[in-house]
Amino acid sequence: MTAQSLKKILVVDDDANFLKLIRMRLELSGYDVVTALNEEDAIVKITQESLALSIVDLRLVHRDGISLMEEIHSISPYMPIIILTAHGSIESAVEATKKGAYNFMNKPFDHEQLLLQIEKALENRRLMSEVKRLEGLLKDKYDFKNIVARSDKMRKVLDWVSRVAPTDSTIFIFGESGTGKELIAKAIHLASERRDNPYVALNCAAIPETLLESELFGHEKGAFTDARKSHKGMFAQAHQGTIFLDEIGDMPLAIQAKLLRVLQEKQFHPLGSAKPLDVDVRVIAATNKDIEAMVKEGSFREDLFYRIHVVPVNLPPLRERKEDIPLLAEYFLLDISRRMRKDVKGISAMAMQKLMLYDWPGNVRELENTIEHAVAITRDDVIGQEIILPAKNLPAETLKPYKEALEDFKRGYVVRILEFTKGNVSKAAQHAEKYRADFHNLVKKYHLKPEDFKNSDKRNFMPPE
Ligand SMILES: Nc1ncnc2c1ncn2[C@@H]1O[C@H](COP(=O)(O)OP(=O)(O)OP(=O)(O)O)[C@@H](O)[C@H]1O
Ligand SMILES: [Mg+2]
Repeated sequence: MTAQSLKKILVVDDDANFLKLIRMRLELSGYDVVTALNEEDAIVKITQESLALSIVDLRLVHRDGISLMEEIHSISPYMPIIILTAHGSIESAVEATKKGAYNFMNKPFDHEQLLLQIEKALENRRLMSEVKRLEGLLKDKYDFKNIVARSDKMRKVLDWVSRVAPTDSTIFIFGESGTGKELIAKAIHLASERRDNPYVALNCAAIPETLLESELFGHEKGAFTDARKSHKGMFAQAHQGTIFLDEIGDMPLAIQAKLLRVLQEKQFHPLGSAKPLDVDVRVIAATNKDIEAMVKEGSFREDLFYRIHVVPVNLPPLRERKEDIPLLAEYFLLDISRRMRKDVKGISAMAMQKLMLYDWPGNVRELENTIEHAVAITRDDVIGQEIILPAKNLPAETLKPYKEALEDFKRGYVVRILEFTKGNVSKAAQHAEKYRADFHNLVKKYHLKPEDFKNSDKRNFMPPE
C-alpha cells in the first residue's frame, strides 16, 4: 500500500449531512475521505480507489450494512470495516462483528472514540500485513523445498528460476502438460519482492472469449446486458502483485491486442468505464504450445510474443529426466498416504522399475495420479508392481544382462551427442573428449550416419558447463 492509500477512508451513509460532518472531522485529523450515499456508489469506490478502511452505516436504503460489508470483503478481504449502529441495536452490532466487522460504534458517537478505533484498526492492518510478510518468507523457503528435483536438468531450471525470481522481469514458462508450470509460477511469486501482494492466476483456455475480457480487465455495472454488478478484473486484483496467465497460447487474437496495450501503457479501462486505471503487475505467462510456430502461422501476435518472452523457463518433460521419478514417487507417496490416513511406507523395487520404464506423456501430474490410485487401492504397506500401471503399455521385460545394457547406454550416448552437434563428428568427439578417429569408429560400430542428425532440434539439451 502507498502512503496515500494508508490514510484513505470510505464512509457509507444515506445521510448527506452526516457525511459532510464526518468528512470535515476526519480530514481535520489528517485522513483522506471518500463518501458514498448508497451501496452501488460504495462498491464503485471500493473497486476504483485504494482504501485503507471503511465506515459503514448499518441501516442503508436498499439493504443492510452487513450485506454491504460482506460484498466489500469479497472484493477487498483485508479491509477493516467499522459499523455504525443506532442506539439499542446491539444484536445486529454483534452479528456484524461475527461476520467480520472490525468493530462497531453507536450513533451518535464521540469523535475521539471513533479516531481511536480508526487508529487501532489501521495498526491492526499493518500488523496483519507484517505477519503475512513473515509467513511469506517462511513459505518462500518452503515452496522451493516443495519442488522435487534431483536431475541435472531440473536443478539447472531451479537455479535459473531462483535467480530470475527477484528481478521483476516478465517470465515465460514453457513445458508440456503436467510438467509443473503452475508450481514454478507460484514459487517465483513467493520468491519475489511482491510476495506480500496478491498472486492472481487465470487460465486463458478455461474461459470463453466473451467473458475473458471482463475477467481480465473488469467491468462497470451495466457495461453489458448481464453486468448487474461492477466487477474488479484480474489485473486490478493483482495490482502490486503478480498475474499468472496460464495457457496464454489459447488467448484469442482480439484479447491479445488488448493485453499488449495494457503491458505497454501500464493502464487499462474496465469495460464500460471511461476512466483508465493504473496498474503495476508482474506478468508470468505459461503455455504447452509451440508459441513460436503460432507466431509464424499468425495465430499469436509477434509483438505480444516479444513483450512476454523476456525471461524463458523451459520445463523438460519427465521422460527426459527420469532420475526425478523415484524421488517424486516417494514424495507423492508420503504426502498422499498421510492425506488418505493410510500407512503406506514405500514402493517395491519392481514397482519402481516399472515407473522408470514408462514414458509419462502426462508428466508429473500423471505420476502423481498413478501414485494416488496405487495408494488408494493397496492393502499392503508397500506398493507392489501388480498395482502400478497395470493398464499402461510398458515395454516388455527389459532388465538386460550388464554387457548388453552397457552397449545400449553407449549407443544412446553417441546418438545424443550427435543430435546436439547436428551430426558434426569433430565437435561430437570434442564433447566426448575422444579422438576424432575413435569417435568415428563408435559411430560406425553403432551403424549411425552423422548426416541423419543435420536437422535435429534438441531444445532441451543442456551442454556440460
Ligand atoms: N518438481 C515437482 N515437485 C513436486 N511436485 C510437482 C513437481 N512438478 C509438478 N508437480 C506436481 O504435479 C502436478 C502438476 O503440476 P502443474 O499443475 O504445476 O503442471 P502444469 O505444467 O501447470 O500442467 P498443465 O499444463 O496441465 O496445466 C501438481 O500437483 C504439482 O504440484
Ligand atoms: Mg497448469
